[in-house]
Amino acid sequence: MEFKNLLVTGGCGFIGSNFIRYLLEKSDFAGRIVNVDKLTYAGNPENLRDLEQRFPGRYVFLREDICNLERMDAIFTDYHIDVVCHFAAESHVDRSIKRPADFIFTNIVGTFNLLEASRNHTAGFRLFHHVSTDEVYGSLGKEGHFIETTPYKPNSPYSASKASSDHLVRAYFKTYGLPVTISNCSNNYGPWQFPEKLIPLITLNALEGKPLPVYGDGKNVRDWLYVEDHCEAIWTIMNKGRRGETYNVGGNSEEENLSVVYGICDILDAIRPRTGSGPRRDLITFVKDRPGHDWRYAIDSGKLQSELGWAPRESFQTGLRRTIVWYLENTGWVTRVRSGDYLRWIDEHYGPGDK
Ligand code: NAD
Ligand code: DAU
Repeated sequence: MEFKNLLVTGGCGFIGSNFIRYLLEKSDFAGRIVNVDKLTYAGNPENLRDLEQRFPGRYVFLREDICNLERMDAIFTDYHIDVVCHFAAESHVDRSIKRPADFIFTNIVGTFNLLEASRNHTAGFRLFHHVSTDEVYGSLGKEGHFIETTPYKPNSPYSASKASSDHLVRAYFKTYGLPVTISNCSNNYGPWQFPEKLIPLITLNALEGKPLPVYGDGKNVRDWLYVEDHCEAIWTIMNKGRRGETYNVGGNSEEENLSVVYGICDILDAIRPRTGSGPRRDLITFVKDRPGHDWRYAIDSGKLQSELGWAPRESFQTGLRRTIVWYLENTGWVTRVRSGDYLRWIDEHYGPGDK
C-alpha cells in the first residue's frame, strides 16, 4: 500500500518516537512523516532530532495541539495528509486518577477532531489508524485472555477515555465509511519511555539507591511487549489489516509486578554492582495500592498472528536487559526529561504552543 503523507500524532512521546524511527530506519515506507505533538511533559523532540538531518524532506515536526480542530484541518490541507497514525494521548493511569480533565480533552475531543479533519479531507484519504490499549477491556482474573470481542469495561479515567475514543473511531467507519483500523496493545517498554512508568522508574530509582515503590502486594500482572515489536505490529496492521477491524497486540509475556522489579534489581546488580550496600531488592517498598487497580491483563493476539503474520521478536528477558542498558547509557536524556528546565527549553525553542 502506497502511503504518501503520513500524519503521526504524539510522535515525540515514547511509542510515537520509536514508531517514527522504525518507519524511517527499518520499514519500506517511502513517503513523508508529519509529526504533530503538543509537547506536554511526556513529549520530547530531542528523541528525533537526528532524523531531520538524516532524512531530509521526509520528516516534519509541528508543535500543535490535536484539540485545535482548525489547526488540524489546516495541516491536512497544507501537507496533503492521506494517512493518520494516532498516538497522541495522556497516557499515565496515576495522573488520570489525580487530574482526569486533560485525559478527556486530549483523548476524546482530540481524537474526535482528527476524525473530523479526516472526514473533511476524504479525497485520496487512505487510512486512520488508532493506537489504543488493552485497558479498555478492564481486568482479568487468574484465567483467560482479552480477545477483540471481549466487552469493554474500563476502570480508570484513562482507560475510559481511550474506550470512548475507540468507539468514536469505530463509529466513523460504520457511519461515514472512513477507512479505519484500531490496535489494542498491552504494556510497552523500551528506550525513551518517560520515567514515570514502572520499568524506567524502578530502573532509575534502583540505580540511584532510592526506594522502589510497589503498589499493593505486587501481585498484579501485566503482559509486556518490547516497543519495537509494537511498532512493527502497527505498521503491519496499517498495511494489511482489514478496514473497520480491531487487532489485539501483546507480548505473550505475563509477569507479576514484583517479578519485574526483581528482574530489574538482579540485572543492575550484575552489570553495575552496588558498593558497600546489599542487593537492590532490599530497596523494595510496598506502598498504598492504586485506586481501582486492574489485577491482570493478558492479550490473545492470535488474530493478528494468523491473519497478518505478525509475531513479537524480543523476549522479555532480552528486552528488559536492552532497556536497562539504554537507560544506563542515556543519563543525559534522563536528567533533561526529569528537569523543569527542560520544559522551559522546549518553550524557548518551539514556542509555547497551545496551552
Ligand atoms: P506518551 O505519554 O509517552 O506520549 C504521548 C505523546 O502525546 C507526547 O509526546 C505528548 O506530548 C503528546 N500529546 C499529549 N497531548 C497532546 C495533544 N493534546 N496534542 C498533541 N500531542 C499531544 O505515551 P505513549 O506511552 O507513547 O503512548 C502512545 C499511545 O499508545 C497512547 O495513545 C496510549 O494510549 C497508547 N498505548 C500505550 C501503551 C504503553 O504501554 N505505553 C500501551 C498501549 C497503548
Ligand atoms: O496496558 C497498557 C497500558 O500500560 C497503557 O495503555 C498505558 O498507557 C501504560 O501507562 C500502561 O499502564 P499501566 O498502568 O499498566 O502501567 P504502569 O507502568 O503505570 O504500571 C505498571 C504496573 O506497575 C501497574 O500494575 C501499576 C504498578 N506500579 C506502577 C508504578 C508507576 C507500581 O507497582 N509502582 C509504580 O511506581
